[in-house]
Amino acid sequence: MNTFEFKNPTKIIFGKDQIDQIKNEIPHDAKVLLLYGGGSIKKNGIYEQVTKALKTHNVIEFAGIPANPEYAILMEALKVIKEEQVTYLLAVGGGSVIDGTKFLSAAALYDGDEPWDILSKNIRTLEGMPFGTVLTLPATGSEMNSGAVITRADTKEKLAMGGPGLFPVFSVLDPQVIQSIPHHQLVNGITDAFTHVLEQYLTYPTGAYLQDRFSESILQTLIEVAPQVLKDPADYNAASNFMWSCTMALNGLIQKGVPSDWAVHAMGHELTALYGIDHARTLAVIAPSHYNYNFEAKKEKLAQYGERVWNITTGSTEDKAHAAIEKTEAFFNEMGIDTKLSQYTKDYEGTAEIISKRFKARGWEGLGEHQNLKPEDVEKIVKMAY
Ligand code: NZQ
Ligand code: ZN
Repeated sequence: MNTFEFKNPTKIIFGKDQIDQIKNEIPHDAKVLLLYGGGSIKKNGIYEQVTKALKTHNVIEFAGIPANPEYAILMEALKVIKEEQVTYLLAVGGGSVIDGTKFLSAAALYDGDEPWDILSKNIRTLEGMPFGTVLTLPATGSEMNSGAVITRADTKEKLAMGGPGLFPVFSVLDPQVIQSIPHHQLVNGITDAFTHVLEQYLTYPTGAYLQDRFSESILQTLIEVAPQVLKDPADYNAASNFMWSCTMALNGLIQKGVPSDWAVHAMGHELTALYGIDHARTLAVIAPSHYNYNFEAKKEKLAQYGERVWNITTGSTEDKAHAAIEKTEAFFNEMGIDTKLSQYTKDYEGTAEIISKRFKARGWEGLGEHQNLKPEDVEKIVKMAY
């Protein structure tokens, strides 16, 4: 097992009707900016719960953070933070609203001239403006990690940022919120969380028995609850297991002491930046090609995953590993997720070259757990995903 440090300071408040608790978590002398997305929280009653809980706090609002949080819109929110002397942020939404809030938390205390530098120059945030979250969509794990991904429409870029100053102070996880999530977004959430585990698990054996079993148990739980959640989002027990699995998939725990990959996300983010494809669907497009392309390097863990998660018990290591990739793709397809780029856009020709050029320009010369995937490899993987 590799040497590691682990600190996750986010307080989780989990369960039915827990949104009301935010009144005890946000200081009463704070000037609060409530941030949310396109309005789903006004239709499903979450907005009402939040504003009722904060009725004695000093709260102003910023609405309209879109899916794949857009830099230009966040810059408008930053203006509000500065003009109104906001001291505390509250994100009420999915990964996009939470990520947007993380950017604002960093940008509010950033003393450089151009906040985009935080992303383009990968400036880590050691201290941000404090913020809490009310999660409305289980998927990204953003509610309990310190990373964010921000989109910039004018340059068609989608870049990551983070740092120890960007953990939420608290996050409220009420599994009842999933009742209003559209079917395709629930499917996205399952797929995103599932792929987060794969990125941290499908590498090479390191003798980290516990981390492997943490990962396998999250994958097994997602496979078990996926049909239940999709059939009846009001099934509280299924919703609870789904929500907690998504958080645990990317709160840092399972990646401690083991190598991780993240090349699927690096390529996937480009497909969202170029074509606006939902984040989770880009992962389902890239993942099968990535695992097939890197088969030799990953086959031991692929076979272990096949055995322990998909109960594939016959055949050689290679047979099990191949079957595991097929099972994964079938799992996505059965939920209604297409796994080829050409199913999302007619303009797919040339995509692989564009992405490999971008990676080269950014100096991303070695992706994956061995840091040996070059832009030329990326080009081949993306082509395999057409
Ligand atoms: O904007 P509103 O009206 O709220 O509607 C949203 C949005 O249209 C809707 N929604 C959310 N909760 C709902 C709901 N509709 C009905 N009922 C509810 N309870 O769902 C739509 C999608 O929301 P979004 O926040 O975009 O989805 P998700 O949580 O999947 O977040 C995706 C973003 O997170 C980034 C992705 O790249 C993408 O930008 N990621 C963040 C990560 C992180 N911070 O750790 C890791 C991930 O790998 C990912 O990259
Ligand atoms: Zn993801």
